Amino acid sequence: AYTAAPFVPEGADLSALRDAAAGCHGCPLHRDTTQTVFGAGDPDARVMLVGEQPGDQEDRQGKPFVGPAGKVLDRALDEAGIDPDETYITNAVKHFKFTHVPERGKRRIHKPPSLRELSACGPWLEAELELIEPEVVVALGATAGKALLGSSFRVTKQRGTRLEGAPSGPAHGALIVPTIHPSAVLRADDREAVYGGLVADLRVVVEALG
Ligand code: URA
Repeated sequence: AYTAAPFVPEGADLSALRDAAAGCHGCPLHRDTTQTVFGAGDPDARVMLVGEQPGDQEDRQGKPFVGPAGKVLDRALDEAGIDPDETYITNAVKHFKFTHVPERGKRRIHKPPSLRELSACGPWLEAELELIEPEVVVALGATAGKALLGSSFRVTKQRGTRLEGAPSGPAHGALIVPTIHPSAVLRADDREAVYGGLVADLRVVVEALG
């Protein structure tokens, strides 16, 4: 099976972890990408946000959520009363998965990671959760939800609620608040309504922090 486990150094701090992740060959996704996109942000964050995987911009720049979805997310966090600079943000999968479609020339089109790739990358996410020890983990979309809560997770049913991660699960008993992926706002016909739903879910995070 694919797994990042042998690449994750034991007892490493965040910067050693990031360095090691740069060389991860735990699944085939590294082959066609520019670089590993590891988590970033405040190591003392009370709130950790988990996305799906880096997009085109993130792959080029080496940082999570620096593209269009990240702009939406920052605005929504701010509006909900969460300072984006006081969060730690990462992805369930650390490499960009994409395809080319003939009509679109050189453009790299995002492809959802498979369950095998998601579980292969799990050891990095678990190591980040262990070091950050957030009070609340925000699952951005279905992929992050599955990574944190298992494959029975359903974003439409569970978004905006406070869920307790199993003590033995990746979030080690931290509170998990799932919401939609911010890129869903960009794809929606009714952007304002979908954006409003994202902000409302993020307000649940603020309430949970007290
Ligand atoms: N979408 C994600 O899930 N993560 C990113 O880093 C960028 C876009």
